[in-house]
Amino acid sequence: MIDLSVFIKDLKFNNPFLNASGVWCTTYDEIEDILKSEAGGVVFKTMTLEKRTGNPEPRLHVEKDFSINSMGLPNFGVDYYCQIVSKLKKYKKPLIASIAGFKENEFYLLAEKIKKSDFDALEVNLSCPNLEGKGIFAYDIKTSFKILKNIRKIFKKKLGAKLPPYFERETIKKISEKIIEVKLDFVSLINSYPLGSKIDIKDEKLVIKPNQGIGGLGGKIIKPISIAQVLLFNQYFKNEIDIIGVGGINDAEDVYEYILAGAKLISIGTSLLKGVKIFKKIKIELEKIIKEKKIKNLNEKIGLIKI
Ligand code: SIN
Repeated sequence: MIDLSVFIKDLKFNNPFLNASGVWCTTYDEIEDILKSEAGGVVFKTMTLEKRTGNPEPRLHVEKDFSINSMGLPNFGVDYYCQIVSKLKKYKKPLIASIAGFKENEFYLLAEKIKKSDFDALEVNLSCPNLEGKGIFAYDIKTSFKILKNIRKIFKKKLGAKLPPYFERETIKKISEKIIEVKLDFVSLINSYPLGSKIDIKDEKLVIKPNQGIGGLGGKIIKPISIAQVLLFNQYFKNEIDIIGVGGINDAEDVYEYILAGAKLISIGTSLLKGVKIFKKIKIELEKIIKEKKIKNLNEKIGLIKI
């Protein structure tokens, strides 16, 4: 038996595999499905103060190498998730809440509710690209860090943020320094690439309806973008903040690449649309890589590639 366990501070995960918030984690049954699988923990669907039906259909398009979504945060509302989380404790795996507000104050109300619940950790989603007429919080650095600083005062368990891709090294350096200052425990890199689109040439139509047919791009196609973000953030974090790598993970070679770049855990999004069996597949494959490479402790490989 190979020990794949990893820790975010003192929070133990039996292995580094999580779902990406958004995929197969909205209903009780879906969340339980992930917990019953080989996943090391679960990130819940991003919750808002009120229940939301989300954007109009069609809002998800999946192809071999990419997905485009404009879901618009459909979820049952924070109270529902705070209620069901206690029933899911029995799986003894970390339960991570994900929250998004539409206004600054909503983030604090959400964090207060999560604080009173049985969640083990909180991921602040500052990067949803699919809210019509609203920008991405994380690109407003001043407001984002005000929010994170105040949530840090409210929520004392493990706290992280889910970020979008950034486009300049200097921006990543500045954000990394602020993340260390705010004392986050982890970041998830990255949410979907914000502006993706596809036209079906047979129908001569955009494949998704909301937001002018433009939504978050995920899947294999975004892996090099995400790997670069992990490499850069890891360089600036200097081992102070843990990274969850997200984007285009389909097999254990992808997982290993993220680990070398600096990710401690990884989240699976688009590939999870095919079912939770992916966790078992990736675990078996990763154990094979570990044996072949004669790795004693996977932790030694985290961030091996320095830039
Ligand atoms: C969505 O519900 O629109 C996707 C969630 C996200 O990208 O943060």
